[in-house]
Amino acid sequence: MGALSKRAAGAALMDKNIKLFACPICQESMDVFEQGRLVCSSNHSFDIAKQGYVNMLTHGAVSKYSKDLFESRKAVIDSGIYDVVEDKIGELIANAETVLDTGCGEGSHLARIMEGQKGNCIGIGIDIAKEGILAASRHYPEQIWCVGDLAKSPFARSSFDAILNILSPANYEEFKRLLTHNGCVVKVVPQSRYLQELRAQLYADSTKESYSNEQIVARFKESFADVSVERITYTVPLATELVPALLEMTPMGWHKKEEANIELNEITIDVDILVGRV
Ligand SMILES: C[S@@+](CC[C@H](N)C(=O)[O-])C[C@H]1O[C@@H](n2cnc3c(N)ncnc32)[C@H](O)[C@@H]1O
Ligand SMILES: [Zn+2]
Repeated sequence: MGALSKRAAGAALMDKNIKLFACPICQESMDVFEQGRLVCSSNHSFDIAKQGYVNMLTHGAVSKYSKDLFESRKAVIDSGIYDVVEDKIGELIANAETVLDTGCGEGSHLARIMEGQKGNCIGIGIDIAKEGILAASRHYPEQIWCVGDLAKSPFARSSFDAILNILSPANYEEFKRLLTHNGCVVKVVPQSRYLQELRAQLYADSTKESYSNEQIVARFKESFADVSVERITYTVPLATELVPALLEMTPMGWHKKEEANIELNEITIDVDILVGRV
């Protein structure tokens, strides 16, 4: 697909789902203008890039997430180590027709989850990091990709049957505004053994070897109704060549000094999947 037609294809997908959008400045409804911009009735205008995503940031944003980090995340996610988690999310949102992935990064989780969904559903990924959305739109043109800030989200009230929030910061007030009446939010948070083989080697003598998600779970329970928490723990083989990508994909300041000596052939995924409703 050429550059021009990718913009046109993105614009067409946005046009088809235009009711999901609202201006992040004045909250008015939006239209696609000449396949190149989203424009609201007060004439606030947001460009659709030639790669087919729309940039709806209303302010400059400095991201600590680089192009390299997103490429590493894609390589690691593509290897399938999160398949069990993605399948579980797919089951949880099986009936959703509109899905928003908040802090979607380079989009692989959303794309893989939407592949398993039946029927007429659309996924939108939003992330404040342009490099993430650029990669997402390059690889996954079947979904809508949007650079934007969750604190000023460009979507209309009661629009989404499912809101995903995978290993990313959340904005619960905004999630509640955006959920449909029967919609659910699905949040994935690390549990104590998440990537434990990596942390054990990086932090041989440190208390940082494990961490707790207790406060996050407690806040989620305060914020939503009918909350369920399911822990998913498994260990999968890891190809040696993915170790540098696994190290690169985390921006959490994990020490990298002994990187050369790290030997991993398996990795543990240990997460809580929180589901809540309004
Ligand atoms: C650890 S990454 C996780 C990305 C992806 N969900 C994954 O699991 O690969 C967290 C993401 O949240 C995004 N993010 C942080 N604050 C945000 C905000 N206010 N609005 C939108 N995205 C945000 C970051 O840019 C980053 O891509
Ligand atoms: Zn506006």
